[in-house]
Amino acid sequence: MSAGAAIQIDGERVRELIEREEARLNENTQASDRMYERARDSLAGGVASSYQLRDPWPIYIDRGEGPRVWDVDNNEMWDFHNGFGSMVQGHAHPAIGRAISERYSRGTHFAAPTEDGIVVAEELVRRWGIPKWRYTNSGSEATMDAIRIARAHTGREDVLKIFGSYHGHHDTVMVSIGVEYDAIGEGDDLASIAYGAGIPKATVEQVHAVHFNDAPAMERKLEKLKSEGRLPACVIMEPAMMNLGVVLPEPGYLEAVREITARLGVVLIFDEVKTGICIAPGGATEKFGVTPDLVTLAKALGGGLPIGAIGGSEAVMACVEDGSVYQVGTYNGNPLGMAAARANLLEVMTPAAYEHLDHLNDRILEGCTGVIEEFNLPGYAVGIGSKGCVTFSTEKVVDYAVFKANQDKILCDLAWLYNMNRGIYMTPGREEEWTLSVTHTDEAIDSYVSCFREMAADLVA
Ligand SMILES: Cc1ncc(COP(=O)(O)O)c(C=O)c1O
Repeated sequence: MSAGAAIQIDGERVRELIEREEARLNENTQASDRMYERARDSLAGGVASSYQLRDPWPIYIDRGEGPRVWDVDNNEMWDFHNGFGSMVQGHAHPAIGRAISERYSRGTHFAAPTEDGIVVAEELVRRWGIPKWRYTNSGSEATMDAIRIARAHTGREDVLKIFGSYHGHHDTVMVSIGVEYDAIGEGDDLASIAYGAGIPKATVEQVHAVHFNDAPAMERKLEKLKSEGRLPACVIMEPAMMNLGVVLPEPGYLEAVREITARLGVVLIFDEVKTGICIAPGGATEKFGVTPDLVTLAKALGGGLPIGAIGGSEAVMACVEDGSVYQVGTYNGNPLGMAAARANLLEVMTPAAYEHLDHLNDRILEGCTGVIEEFNLPGYAVGIGSKGCVTFSTEKVVDYAVFKANQDKILCDLAWLYNMNRGIYMTPGREEEWTLSVTHTDEAIDSYVSCFREMAADLVA
């Protein structure tokens, strides 16, 4: 972190730059505007998922190749968004394309198991050291089924999560995510708040939250709930938070969480939908050396196709094997998805690919840190594997409370506009981070850093 010496950002200057950059982006995305007008007649809000909404209109994408995407106005951009972290392989990777087209000619769906599903599971066992796997079609399905398995295994219903963490869009996990700072609650009594409308009150009341990186608070919460006769079935958490930018676990935190949950008989679920495949071959489980009872994967697993997975210990997965939990789905283990995942894991995400990602991430983190130091910006660069971000906060973000109180939202908005106007397709939103792909090059990284430098220079001009 650039401690202490950070300059005071002039709010007036930021607003001026935002206005200028918004006008430029609007001018360059007129075809997206027209597409939005048309889309609104048939698609609710003009998009397929509410996370694709944007004012005054979403940017519609036409195509992608390797590390690049083109929008419908034919603006060419380096892709640092990568499908919310799914495309760590880069777009239209030939090995995945070959696997999909070869599978297509032999049929794409039978709702019956195929050999590729076994090969993928064998590789996941090897990477995670976790013995039993099942498939889903998304990250949300993976976390939904993992929680059901934990409930069946323990015979209990409550759930403990980390405040501010996103685990998908089913009811149980749509609690205590993005809320106003003064609604978080104090000390050990953090609020359980529905994330959006339509979440049953009874579900919200079953879900409790503690802050990340605070193992004693987790222990106190579990003990308190236990004394009230409602010990949770599980703790569901990202081992490194990837929905507040990037927040890494402090040394010893994950080990302490593992010890506390094991001692109390609470199933530990690592949601590796974002970290899995992307930060190491065996995800955060490998990187930090702590093994949960259940792990959930999706996003980068499918090489661009919608698949997810749940891995678990023999003991916890016994309720799936004995048929007491219905872990089901017409498209689970879909042959096309399995063929793509097989090629992705065996041909694309190789040890050399991870070495390349580490090299690229070192370069971008070093570049961004250099800019922060040169201009004394209030912030720091943080990352791991293919993931990273610049966090605009003078204090190191270790949990949601620090994030919410300190992170400068308006600078995040400005950075996104600068990127989009200079050929960097970036994930929108202050909670997001970049995802690099194995097809990115030093040139792509240097473009990102030079765009960031331009913004920094304009901010102090
Ligand atoms: C950590 C985490 N878990 C689960 C999900 C849900 O995945 P999906 O959008 O595939 O349902 C997400 C999505 O962003 C996520 O970041």
